[in-house]
Formats: sequence, structure tokens, C-alpha cells
Amino acid sequence: MKIRILGSAAGGGFPQWNCNCETCDGCRSTRLNAIARTQSSIAVSSNGSDWALINASPDIRQQILSTPDLQPNRSLRDTGIKAVFLMDAQIDHVTGLLMLRESRVRLPIYCSARVKADLTSGFPIFNILEHYCGVDWFEVKPDGTPFTVPGIDAVQFEPFALTSKAPPYSPHRAAPAPGDNLGLVIRNTVTQACALYAPGLGVIEPPVERAMRQASLILVDGTTWTDDEMSRRGVGKKLAREMGHLYQSGPGGMLEVLAAYPQARRVLIHINNTNPILVEDGPERAAVHAAGVEVAQDGMVFEL
Ligand code: MLT
Ligand code: MN
Ligand code: ZN
Repeated sequence: MKIRILGSAAGGGFPQWNCNCETCDGCRSTRLNAIARTQSSIAVSSNGSDWALINASPDIRQQILSTPDLQPNRSLRDTGIKAVFLMDAQIDHVTGLLMLRESRVRLPIYCSARVKADLTSGFPIFNILEHYCGVDWFEVKPDGTPFTVPGIDAVQFEPFALTSKAPPYSPHRAAPAPGDNLGLVIRNTVTQACALYAPGLGVIEPPVERAMRQASLILVDGTTWTDDEMSRRGVGKKLAREMGHLYQSGPGGMLEVLAAYPQARRVLIHINNTNPILVEDGPERAAVHAAGVEVAQDGMVFEL
């Protein structure tokens, strides 16, 4: 089983189009040693030519162009993307669906009923796509019930509910419920090796700990270094935790959480453009490495 990181940045990407914060400006001007990243998405395959997309980033076109495996060229119009799984209805995880509208078949989309509700109301992408390729919806239960995707053989997906909120545009933003945000265990059913993928993780609850214990690859929320990073950088007021993201540094931070799972390769993903760990030779990156943790980059591939 192959897991490929298509995009490793949080919403906005890195550098963000309108941002001149320390890291965005440093990357753009090459003053800092920092590598650009597209917005959060991964792809999973067992045969290397058929892929399940986990989230559809606004940068999907660029991601496909830089990933020849996703364009196998077996017929006049072709794609390696067999299906799309959506972990939530966030803009940075679903907008790429609009870019797939030329699909020759109805797009198979796996998501919870809550996410479908958002994508047929507050941000009615499913309705819009009916005027193009159409959507075949497969319901994913937020209770750990595993599912498989035809064409992605010997891979089992095990989604579970995370405590968080629906996106700002959602009609049920103020009334969170299981299914608004999912974590995902991706299992090779031949070897039983599995990965945990959770790009938005605000609270470490028992199902998350259970998944972390089993995993040989933990790909988790690397949004911010400190809880107050947005205000420190002068670009916002919200705390990371208010946005459903656990900061990395200090007591109770993600690095401390990850220290309990040395059996796994531990990789931070969904990195916000304000995060100082983006600087390859900075002290925060050194602290991440000293904790035995890696920082995801677009194009990374993991074999499980
Ligand atoms: C988040 O995870 O908080 C998002 O990246 C926000 C967004 O898409 O604007
Ligand atoms: Mn996001
Ligand atoms: Zn920035």
C-alpha cells in the first residue's frame, strides 16, 4: 500500500497568496530556507495506478500535474483517481471537487451524512456537480465501520468521529455532531500495517489514542507551533484550538502527545503558512526533529 502526500499545507497553502507574514515573505523572497507547499490532501493506492483521493484540495490541478501516477493515460480521457473520500466539508478539503467536473463517470464520493448535508446546502458542490459529471455518494459512518473502495484492493478505511466543528459556512456550525470531522485509519489488509491520517485534530480522545497505538505511520495535524500563533504573527485573533487544531510546542502540545508512540513514523501535515517549523534550518524544526518527528512535504511517499 502506497500513501502519497499531494499537499502538506493548511488552508491558504504556503506561501499564502495575500500573506506577507515572516514565513510567507521569507519563502517568497528566498530570504528563508522554506519550501512551498500546496493545500492538504493525500492519495492511497495498492497497485500504483488506481488511487483513492483523501480530500480534494483547491490545488488539485497542480497536484495531479506534478504526480504522473495520477494520470496513467490508458485511454483518451483517463484518470488514476478512482474515488474521493472527504474527512470534513472544509473549503481546503472539498473545493477540488469542482476541478474534477470533466470526469467521464459520476464521481464516487465517500463522506458522512453530515458532510453531505453541508455540500448540498451551505456549499452545494454536490448539486452543482449534477450539471457536470454528477456524484455517486457512498455514506461513511462516523463510528469506525470500515469501508473499502473498488479498485483499491487490500486496503481498508476505518473512519471515526473527531470532536470539532463544521466549517464557518455550515448551517449546523453551532450544533456540532459526530460526522462533521473524521479521523481515518488506513489499513493494508494483507500485512495489517496501518496509518492514521488526521489533518485536523484539536483534542486527543480515546479513539485517537487507539489509532496512534496501532499505527506504523501517524500523519497528523501540524497546523501551528503555538496556540496563539495567528495573533503572534499579527494575522488573526483565533487560537489554534478554537479552529480545531492542537498546537505542537510545550505542555500538552502535539510533540508531547506523539512522544508516547515511538513505534510509528510520526509526520506533521496540514501546516499553516505562519508555522515556524516551515523554516528548514530554524530552531523549531530542530525541536521537531529532536522529538523524532518529521514535517511533511508535497510528493512524499510512504509504503506500508
Ligand atoms: C482549517 O483547517 O482550519 C482550514 O484550513 C481553514 C480554511 O480552510 O480556511
Ligand atoms: Mn484545513
Ligand atoms: Zn503567511
